[in-house]
Amino acid sequence: MQTLQSQVLQVNSVRKSFTKRKTSSRKAERVEVLGGVSFDLKSGTFTSIIGPSGCGKTTLLRIIDGLLPADSGEVFFKGELVTSPPPKMGFVFQGFGLLPWRTVQKNVEFGLELRGVDESERVEIARKYIQVVGLAGFENHYVHEISGGMQQRVGLARALSIDPDVLLMDEPFASVDMQTREILQKQLLQIVKGSVPKTTLFVTHNIDEAIYLSDEIVLLTTRPGMVKEVIKVNLPQDRWNYDPRLNPEYARLRNYCWSFLEKEIMEKGVFGSDLT
Ligand SMILES: Nc1ncnc2c1ncn2[C@@H]1O[C@H](COP(=O)(O)OP(=O)(O)OP(=O)(O)O)[C@@H](O)[C@H]1O
Ligand SMILES: [Mg+2]
Repeated sequence: MQTLQSQVLQVNSVRKSFTKRKTSSRKAERVEVLGGVSFDLKSGTFTSIIGPSGCGKTTLLRIIDGLLPADSGEVFFKGELVTSPPPKMGFVFQGFGLLPWRTVQKNVEFGLELRGVDESERVEIARKYIQVVGLAGFENHYVHEISGGMQQRVGLARALSIDPDVLLMDEPFASVDMQTREILQKQLLQIVKGSVPKTTLFVTHNIDEAIYLSDEIVLLTTRPGMVKEVIKVNLPQDRWNYDPRLNPEYARLRNYCWSFLEKEIMEKGVFGSDLT
């Protein structure tokens, strides 16, 4: 597959259906979740995906990471067809996805263990990324001994430790409080646009979060999820140095995204046949 140098990921016409049993009857039905999704990810960019609940965002990320096969269409990562999880793709899961019986250090080492990195190197790399996310001193704490915001940073350190060429993040800040969320957003930008540059694909329900973080926003429709539009966010890069909400471009983008989501939800509902 030929790629433009700047394109690290290409998603081509990805379709996916699941068989679901209706709660109101014993019949199973085929539910189309993704209806032909296409977009590209340019190297070094931060791209968010927003779309109504249940429109297939998590399913799409799992297909991109090779954890789930598409029914049709394909994903190319650095020009190679994805058929299983690529070693250079990092994933921060919806919820924290940490192992409670492991310490912070051992959780961060987990991805490196899976990739066969030997112990002394693993320890060193994990320490480095624990430092990057501001958790130095907490290496020997267990998951239940640290706050939700700190747990989320462990998830980020684990994903960064494998030095991914693309970082996939599925609603990573959804289960932390508003203040912590804003701090984590700022820290994430400082890392992936500053100290440890990464190409990032980030799923969120939160429009403000998407605008604050992104260079581009992919708007997905209600199920079956399809790309309605890819919006460019023309705000200065160093957003952690000032409040972008004061910029008129921010207000314009916010209105635009809200109108889109409101229209999708009002016209088609959020959950579709989940409620039948
Ligand atoms: N393994 C599965 N088997 C059957 N149905 C599934 C499976 N995985 C997901 N679904 C269904 O596919 C639809 C999309 O799910 P998905 O988790 O991808 O949506 P989402 O956009 O991430 O939702 P949310 O915004 O709530 O996180 C939902 O209706 C879900 O119930
Ligand atoms: Mg999801």
